[in-house]
Amino acid sequence: MSKIGVFDSGLGGLSVLKELRKLLPNEDYIYYADSINVPYGEKTDEELLELTSKIVDYLIKEDCKLIVIACNTATTSCMKKLREMYPDTIFVGTVPAIKVAYDYNYKDTIILSTPYTTKSKRVQELIHDYKRDDQNLYLVSGDNLASLIEDNNTSEINRVLNEILSPYKDKVDSVVLGCTHYSLIKDEINNVLPNVVQLDGCRGISEEVKRQLEKNNLLDNKGTGKLSIINTKSDDLVKRSYEILK
Ligand code: DGL
Repeated sequence: MSKIGVFDSGLGGLSVLKELRKLLPNEDYIYYADSINVPYGEKTDEELLELTSKIVDYLIKEDCKLIVIACNTATTSCMKKLREMYPDTIFVGTVPAIKVAYDYNYKDTIILSTPYTTKSKRVQELIHDYKRDDQNLYLVSGDNLASLIEDNNTSEINRVLNEILSPYKDKVDSVVLGCTHYSLIKDEINNVLPNVVQLDGCRGISEEVKRQLEKNNLLDNKGTGKLSIINTKSDDLVKRSYEILK
């Protein structure tokens, strides 16, 4: 077993893959983007489990030694069930970096996530575990942002960001990017919220992958950083993925 499998509803998980390849350059990777089914953030638990278990089947067949769910929505909805369904597979998931905001003592924080994640029980649990009494947390749903990012529709992305984030402009010191797609539009978010720190889990997830590989004696020092990308929608999106990773 040699590769690390990384999957997302689309291009968002590339933000995680980028960090992973920096931290673990001697591993080989397979990236699976289910762009034909974006947005995951508007699907039900049943739909999400059906889609993600198909991807996991594929990645296991491709001999992946560890699978990264580089999607907050899929992790929040399915990770527990996937672990039960595939007890021999090591999964590392992604949840909004609410703990990071806590660790760094931010005071007023937006949690920007997909509609699914925003409403999820998991986010409530994270808030319960990591919100300080003197901290203000604002849950904001990114609506159709993930789809707009897939379509590279910059003007619409800017319009939506303005609409949903500008009311918080003078109120917050930090924003948690609770959807991996949003890490691809940090510049655009910065335009609406200048001087606001953006927090995502990409580095933390990569470190967790390294820990899991070490713990299970699966670290590879001989891989060459080889990467294959699968996109369920189009070859153009595969090309764009390589551009994003540059
Ligand atoms: N990138 C995903 C996440 O982290 C989901 C985006 C979507 O398809 O709605 O939540």
